[in-house]
Amino acid sequence: MMERQKIFDTKFVDRNDEEGLKLSSEAIREGKVVAFPTETVYGLGADALNKDAVNKIFEAKGRPGDNPLIVHIWDKSQIGELVSEITPSAQALIDAFMPGPITVIMRKSDKIPTEVTAGLDTVGIRMPSHTLCNKFLKMCDRPVAAPSANLSGSPSPTTALHVMNDMNGFIYSVIDGGECNVGLESTVVDATGEIPVILRPGAVTSTMIDEALKTHTEYAGALSKGQVPASPGMKYRHYAPGCEVKIITLPENIEKIDPHAEDLTDEQKQKLFNIASPFILTAQDILKGNPAARIGIFAGDEVKALADMAKDDILSAHLEFYVYGATTDVDAASHCLFDGLRLLDRQEVDVILAAGFKGEGLEVAYMNRLSKAAGRSGDDVPSKAYEALEKGGSDIPLEYFDNVFTSSVLFISDDDVNLGAICEGVFTDLVRRKGPFCSEDDVKIGCELYAESAGLYAEDGRTPDALTCDAFSELIKGTVTHHMSKHIEVSLYDTNDLILTINDTQAFDILNAYPDLDGRVFSLSSYMAAKGLVMRGEDGRIASVSVNEPEGDDPDTYRHTVAALKAWIEILFPYIIKDLGARRFC
Ligand code: TXA
Ligand code: MG
Repeated sequence: MMERQKIFDTKFVDRNDEEGLKLSSEAIREGKVVAFPTETVYGLGADALNKDAVNKIFEAKGRPGDNPLIVHIWDKSQIGELVSEITPSAQALIDAFMPGPITVIMRKSDKIPTEVTAGLDTVGIRMPSHTLCNKFLKMCDRPVAAPSANLSGSPSPTTALHVMNDMNGFIYSVIDGGECNVGLESTVVDATGEIPVILRPGAVTSTMIDEALKTHTEYAGALSKGQVPASPGMKYRHYAPGCEVKIITLPENIEKIDPHAEDLTDEQKQKLFNIASPFILTAQDILKGNPAARIGIFAGDEVKALADMAKDDILSAHLEFYVYGATTDVDAASHCLFDGLRLLDRQEVDVILAAGFKGEGLEVAYMNRLSKAAGRSGDDVPSKAYEALEKGGSDIPLEYFDNVFTSSVLFISDDDVNLGAICEGVFTDLVRRKGPFCSEDDVKIGCELYAESAGLYAEDGRTPDALTCDAFSELIKGTVTHHMSKHIEVSLYDTNDLILTINDTQAFDILNAYPDLDGRVFSLSSYMAAKGLVMRGEDGRIASVSVNEPEGDDPDTYRHTVAALKAWIEILFPYIIKDLGARRFC
């Protein structure tokens, strides 16, 4: 796999930024790569007639060039020079569905370099129905080859920030066209023969094609091992997030029920329960097997409502919801699927429970992508670049959010010299590595997280012991030398959203003095318990967090202290950020 090198200060181009659009179209003509919106997903575009430019797409994507790219046009008159034959079925598809979420495969002309088609003698042509996209393509003044703008291995991007997350530094610019309307990639139809064959289902459904063409389309069969793929992309497990995905198939013929309505009849309550309870019961089952499991739920608001009604704090602490609308709404589910998979995966859940649909329309495309995410077909393509991104976090600046709020945690120890410095340092390092963060309820609102520390009996201005500083930089690659101890002030209880003490006595003393802080002050141990995190030691006994002030001159003592606090805070991190009203952004 080729190495990715950061070479650009990738520009984020607003839809109204005429100058940015112009520069981006010039960049395409100069052979650079630009990401642009379409009605399906964002594309990673380059001049389709320039093979060097096309190769740069594969470098940015971190994937081998063995998957053919779709050629994007803004006017049907362009098709003639790109293909060598337009069959009657291809013509009928063009007439009926272009511009729109369809890619029509035809025999290619000599103008198309083999880099675009991965050596095939056919080419996929697509004319998007997205105004900004078509305006941009026209400004480029040439056909633009583009795969979806995700890093190989991650779900297709449906917002400009998704693209930024995967591509920042590797492409010239990203044009922000907002959320993609459809949210799933185009229907790919092989129209080289008499009867069109659907290679990839999409928003243009087989029923729509049958009606328009007065024929009976076929689906390409699932690939068996060793067979040459008609659509090479089918051999990859493309859309997969890093965690396990479980499909919870919804009952058939369900009707929309407003879970927040006050006057639900018993019958409606029963229906709500039928829709939502399989998610909750499955989650409870998973937690029974693993009390530390983190579970993502991709479903409608009925499921969230039922979970809220259950008033089970421990269950809620382990659930991460992505609510796409009403559970029955397949358009909304499709629109949000990739965003949901990305976002939930980022919350470091162990499993995602996702709503599954039966049905013949858009349901087919939705289930095709969801099944791939659940790993039911195709081989995984491990992308080094994707793994690196997952480990390193992304560097989307907070200014891309509509608004930003801050939220913080206060670590309390006795003297705030060593333990306070370590906790603050560990948390700050996690924030740096796992950022950016957004509001739990709104991905457009960024969240700036920080930690501070104080001591109940601290003198002001003491710095950590040299052995603590050494152990910290050895294990965390950061530094705590600048840390200064500070005595607790009452105002710190108000300015911080969550207060965590090293031992139980400290939390107990604070709550005794300030009973109003109940629910915001915990010791590390009581916080674990409140989240249902029962950890057992090797002897089978329940382990509680106990970390002592390091003393003496044995460096190992200090290393153990840093390692222990690092481990506890890493385990608690997802719960802490949830209590701070934040989640990881993707
Ligand atoms: O909606 C879409 O189609 C998006 C937007 C950006 O247009 N593009 C997209 O591209 O999803 P990509 O590269 O992620 O997927 C293209 C699919 C792949 O499965 C590929 O194998 C198939 O189309 N394909 C492209 N050219 C083909 C050809 N000549 N023969 C068979 N399959 C082809
Ligand atoms: Mg793709």
